[in-house]
Order: sequence, then C-alpha cells, then structure tokens
Amino acid sequence: METFDLSRYRNIVFFTGAGMSAESGVPTYRGKGGIWGSYSIEEYACQQAFDRNPEKVLGFHEKRRRSVLDCEPHEGHRVIARMPDARVVTQNIDGMHQRAGSQEVIELHGSLWRLRCDNCGHNKEDLGRSYEARRCACGSWLRPDIIWFGDMLDPLVMSRAAEAIGNCDLFISIGTSGTVWPAAGFPDLARKSGACCIEINPEPSGATRYDRVVEGAAGEVLPKLFGSC
Ligand code: OAD
Ligand code: ZN
Repeated sequence: METFDLSRYRNIVFFTGAGMSAESGVPTYRGKGGIWGSYSIEEYACQQAFDRNPEKVLGFHEKRRRSVLDCEPHEGHRVIARMPDARVVTQNIDGMHQRAGSQEVIELHGSLWRLRCDNCGHNKEDLGRSYEARRCACGSWLRPDIIWFGDMLDPLVMSRAAEAIGNCDLFISIGTSGTVWPAAGFPDLARKSGACCIEINPEPSGATRYDRVVEGAAGEVLPKLFGSC
C-alpha cells in the first residue's frame, strides 16, 4: 500500500468510531463481541435506565472505564496524533485519541471520563478506575457525561464538528458502522462539501460515496497510508 500524498490537503478531519479502538482491545458496539450484544441499551444506556437504577448504570460505566484503562492506544492512534493540524471528530467516549497525544478532539458522544450533575449543573473530570464519588456535593446522583440513546447531542459540540467537517478537504472515516444519527450524516456532509472522502474499515459501511475505500484494520492501514507524514 502506497503512502497517501497529503501535500494537496490543508484541512484534514479524521472521523472515528468504535472500530478505531478495536485493536486496542476495546470492544465495538455492534457485530461479534459487541457491547450491545451483551448489555441492553434499555437497561444501561438511556436516561430512563439511570433514573430507575443509577447504581446499576454507574456500575456498568465503571466497568467500562476499567476495561478501557487496561487497553493502550495503538499505532493508528499515534499516527493521527502526529498530525497536529488534523482534527479528530470521534463518536468514541474512551479517550484513546487523547491518550495517544491528539490535542483537539471533538467528542460527539461525550466521555467516560466526565461526570455531571443535572440538578446543579456541576461537570467534572474523573479519570480513575473507580468513580471518586457517585453523588454530587448537592446530594444528587452524578451521571456519566455521555450521550445516551434518546439524548440530544450538545449543540455546541455539533456545530464545532459540522464546521470542521464542512470546511475540510480530506475526510477519513475509520471504524464506524454509520448507523447512529446524527453522526451518521457527517460522511455525506463531507462529500457534499467537496472533500476527498476515504473510508478505512474491514467491513466498509458505504455510508457515503467514498473516493477510496480501504478494507482493513485501523492499526494496520493508518501507519501504511500516513505513517511517514
Ligand atoms: P459500531 O460498533 O456500530 O461499528 C464498529 C465499526 O468498526 C464496524 O463498521 C466494524 O466493521 C468496524 N471495525 C471493527 N474492527 C475494526 C478495525 N480494527 N479497524 C477499523 N474498523 C473496524 O460502532 P460505532 O459506529 O462507533 O454511541 O457506533 C456508533 C455509536 O453507537 C457509538 O458512538 C455508541 C454506540 O451506541 C453511544 O454510546 C451514544
Ligand atoms: Zn449537583
């Protein structure tokens, strides 16, 4: 596989999903071994589940934090991090891009490493294997600052992502099934804005008309395409 010539491109966006972290050992959501195959969304990933049983939902997210902390970013994450002008728009909540050194990461679906209080508005970083506290100083339960099913995306985060993607001239989608909206609309936005669109995925999603589809794993393909950039 030849190295991709980046010299013609000025605004590069990497758009990533769960497949980006798969080779690090973080399970994807769908398909074989996917998280939603073992855990039901209704019980673990929606506001109603949290309202019904906050301890159970916090326990699930704590377990996910531990399993992510047992994983390390791979060479693909590092290749992206070595391109400081490229922007990363991710659906992932695992913080792997940041751990690899990416500075500017737009997290569409929030983060496993933040908690918020919907009673008083407190929002805090919490990076450990276990949560420092499960309740806010105001007495309410702290909630993972994650976009669950049925939640609206943060409009500010959405507009930052739309601005980055609408203005990019090279869009590289990696490891997403393209099934969850509104994120699933971003490949089409890139295409309509005239960007060159590339997909990297062992099972390509065909989410838009890509100029190039590389059937392969992120950790193998990214170093080959962009490793010498
Ligand atoms: P999915 O689990 O839906 O899709 C994972 C994609 O990664 C599939 O297209 C796989 O073919 C691909 N894949 C697997 N291994 C790969 C590898 N080594 N390299 C590259 N690609 C690989 O994950 P997402 O599309 O990210 O939302 O899911 C979108 C959203 O649904 C998530 O952000 C999450 C989930 O519910 C929330 O939790 C709100
Ligand atoms: Zn509070």
